[in-house]
Amino acid sequence: MIAIVGTGRVGTSAAFAALLRGLDRRIVLVDIVPGLAQGEALDLGHAAAALGADVEFVGSEDFQLLEGSEIVLVTAGKARKPGMTREQLLADNAAIVADVASKIRRFAPESIVIMTTNPLDAMVYVMYKKLGFPRERVIGFSGLLDSARLAYYAAKKLGVGYSSISPVVIGMHGEAMYPVPRLSTVGGVPLTSLLSKGEVEEIAKETVQAGAAITKLRGYSSSYAPGLGLVLMAEAIKRDAKKAFIASIYLDGEYGLRDVVAEVPVILGRRGVERVLELPLNEEEREGFMKSVEAVRELIRALPQEYKI
Ligand code: 2OP
Repeated sequence: MIAIVGTGRVGTSAAFAALLRGLDRRIVLVDIVPGLAQGEALDLGHAAAALGADVEFVGSEDFQLLEGSEIVLVTAGKARKPGMTREQLLADNAAIVADVASKIRRFAPESIVIMTTNPLDAMVYVMYKKLGFPRERVIGFSGLLDSARLAYYAAKKLGVGYSSISPVVIGMHGEAMYPVPRLSTVGGVPLTSLLSKGEVEEIAKETVQAGAAITKLRGYSSSYAPGLGLVLMAEAIKRDAKKAFIASIYLDGEYGLRDVVAEVPVILGRRGVERVLELPLNEEEREGFMKSVEAVRELIRALPQEYKI
């Protein structure tokens, strides 16, 4: 059973993607807005009937519905408005995440949690601290999104299919994210060998600004790509795919870092994050990555103390 907490645009996109990809036979939706999760579950149930897929959707305001969930997708929280940075959401969303953590701990203590709430890495930190689960069961999804965006812009520039690109974006999910073009490859060839310095800088910039560009154009934050991204990670976990993703995780010595969360390559399988991979960064890349991680640390420092223990 899969649970989705928060049935805004990201949560419902995830639910719909889960239906189309046959993620599970039972998907529960929880939202504190009265009637919202029930209404979404009804619409999704009708979609399941139209598809002829026996997937049961149930919605409620009551977190008890989480009981028995193997994976909980957390999309609860305020989303960015045009012109707003992810960091401005810090205090409001930390309170929401801490509350959701207490409910997950109570009703789904064995679950694996995958998060989208922004500012993502700081919210994964809060979730990890408040849940008290092993770190491999508290995952931030956004590295998948940032690297997919790098693949999108690189593929367009090179005239190749998206899946030909193996993209690497690490560090923070935010303006300080760090794309690594030298380790992002097409058939094993680095982007830095295929594109000029100016072109590489251009696609890195487009990648960093992608989320804000969507928000500016349509007036609200991304949803289809995050919704699908959550489902792809959940799928890898459920099927024990042991598949590589870039994801946010609490670091415990990797890259010489401790007590901080950052996007890094990981292997996802039945136990959640089964391995954290260390990229062979050169000196300049290492510096860029550390700068990006420092931006996460700044956010963590700015969190009220109650969310850090
Ligand atoms: C994004 O990057 C809102 O963080 C989300 O689109």
